[in-house]
Amino acid sequence: MEKLEMLYEGKAKKIYSTEDTDKVIVEYKDDATAFNGEKKGQISEKGKLNAKISTIFFELLEEKGIPTHLVEQLNETDVLTKKLDIILVEVVMRNIAAGSIAKRLGLEEGTELKKPVLEFYYKSDELGDPMINEYHIYAEELATKEELDMIKDLAFKINEILVEFLADKGIDLVDFKLEFGKGADGQVYLGDEISPDTCRFWDSKTKKKLDKDRFRRDLGEVEGAYQEILRRLEA
Ligand code: C5P
Repeated sequence: MEKLEMLYEGKAKKIYSTEDTDKVIVEYKDDATAFNGEKKGQISEKGKLNAKISTIFFELLEEKGIPTHLVEQLNETDVLTKKLDIILVEVVMRNIAAGSIAKRLGLEEGTELKKPVLEFYYKSDELGDPMINEYHIYAEELATKEELDMIKDLAFKINEILVEFLADKGIDLVDFKLEFGKGADGQVYLGDEISPDTCRFWDSKTKKKLDKDRFRRDLGEVEGAYQEILRRLEA
């Protein structure tokens, strides 16, 4: 499948049309941004690493019965996916307090949450992705009740699958972000990516951060952390 027209360029990916109108090619870039685009940089090899890491996670989820947009990885940076009409709600799942929840609730980073926490954010660069709840979603008609029930159910299932899979690799899944969309058949699919750009991964023993927080917080060894995640996923 060939890339035709570039339909969209995001912060970390480009999306191209293909001869099949129901499918697109996602090209992963080395560009890195944080704090809603205020901090910009490049992480060498990130495109290749995230394309592979995300494909491994999506294949695992497909195997476990989660409907995802994945069709197949085409080459090092390009992945063929179903074309989705993206639902403008970002879903964050958390198992351990870090980042914005630690700040918001005054929790020490690393505090284990007694139950997984699901949060919704309105996907809007202009507004800086504000946190919203179900009522905002219905008031703004971002998703129907049926779609949102499906999304919540999938998010908790995905969390369970990933926590178990990663624990086996010596990785704590602290939190992560998911995006969903509707396919040509009207069904809800998991879209976007699952990678160190969109998850917090900590080494289970040392608690070393193996994700984009190394870039956000200038901790160094950013590429090495992404490589370490891929190495463990492939082990
Ligand atoms: O910043 P915060 O603690 O709310 O982030 C929670 C999780 O969601 C982190 O793993 C972060 O990488 C991810 N996230 C994301 N894209 C955003 C916001 C958060 O991937 N726009």
